[in-house]
Amino acid sequence: MSKKILILPGDHIGPEIMAEAVKVLERVDSLYSLDLQLDHALLGGAALDATGVPLPPETLAKAREADAILLGAVGGPEWDKVEAARRPEKGLLGLRSELELFGNLRPALLYPQLAAASSLKPELVAGLDILIVRELTGGIYFGEPRGIRTLENGERQGYNTYVYSESEIRRIGHLAFSLARQRDKRVCSVDKSNVLEVTVLWREIMEEVAKDYPDVTLSHMYVDNAAMQLVRAPKQFDVLVTGNMFGDILSDAAAMLTGSIGMLPSASLDKDGRGMYEPCHGSAPDIAGQGIANPLATILSVAMMLRYTLDKPEAAAAIEAAVSDVLDQGLRTADICAEGDTRVSTSEMGDAVLRALQS
Ligand code: NAD
Ligand code: IPM
Ligand code: MN
Repeated sequence: MSKKILILPGDHIGPEIMAEAVKVLERVDSLYSLDLQLDHALLGGAALDATGVPLPPETLAKAREADAILLGAVGGPEWDKVEAARRPEKGLLGLRSELELFGNLRPALLYPQLAAASSLKPELVAGLDILIVRELTGGIYFGEPRGIRTLENGERQGYNTYVYSESEIRRIGHLAFSLARQRDKRVCSVDKSNVLEVTVLWREIMEEVAKDYPDVTLSHMYVDNAAMQLVRAPKQFDVLVTGNMFGDILSDAAAMLTGSIGMLPSASLDKDGRGMYEPCHGSAPDIAGQGIANPLATILSVAMMLRYTLDKPEAAAAIEAAVSDVLDQGLRTADICAEGDTRVSTSEMGDAVLRALQS
């Protein structure tokens, strides 16, 4: 039966990296007879400019119908002054929330060919394979009340609310533990329970969930220490599970260990494994239009889509092998290019992955 894939290119480098990912998706579709139906829609700044809202009803309707969604990135300085409710990023957050994509998997995996591109010494990152499991539809990103209010003395005050209910913590916990079972069977839960009650509850529920997984070891770490440990000795981690904002921040830090934020893919899953797939990076307005963005995070997100939603692990593995092959050939976009490498453009990188897929 055919599968519907919704393509949301987004803003700035979004369309540039998406063009390469779609080439790869179309190629695996024909190589593996996947019978995919691709459709496109607007999200973020592109949608705001065209329709006045960052998540148009048509996009949401198509997203609900799709078996999987592939997203580029949204946002940019030209929309900085837009009010909070209509910002491009709200479109992305709305989609995550409406589709209940609570489970965000961000694998920080070092391709050995990129050891020199990592910001850490090669011996600290050789063999690095961490999975960050970030809660994506709750926490301080979505807590109410929120806003900017004027106090009696006339001063304005900004406020957000950091909340997690037991059920939200439990379901991300189960996801993290079940994924750890397929890996090195270690979960480190990251919180700030020395200060924040919401994460005292987080820690308590993680302990409870752990009882269902006696074969998996649970440890806890405060988020400030976790940030430090990630750049001190990242290989100590297997699965990290944490809330929305901590996960956002820690995953960008983890990205640099792999050589570039342009290498980190992600999956955002609902309870049934339906998902949205996107690179962890943003729309990189500073390099947009130059043809230099690294498309590999988006291409690797296609691999995650094949693995987690479409259940085509062979096709997923083929993409990952093709990426590795291209890196073996010394081909590098600017962000991962070192002396002796061959620097290629965004589209040359996409073409190289296609050639490697074929061979
Ligand atoms: P960013 O991730 O866009 O860029 C940070 C730095 O990384 C920049 O120097 C950029 O050039 C570089 N970079 C990012 N992706 C790259 C790639 N594929 N290849 C090479 N270099 C790359 O973060 P930012 O600058 O803080 O945010 C820019 C915009 O993107 C903002 O509007 C932000 O809200 C948005 N954003 C969107 C998403 C998303 O759509 N999922 C994620 C993060 C940020
Ligand atoms: C990400 C981004 C988003 C987030 C923004 C653009 C809403 O930084 O996907 O990592 O904070 O979740
Ligand atoms: Mn982020």
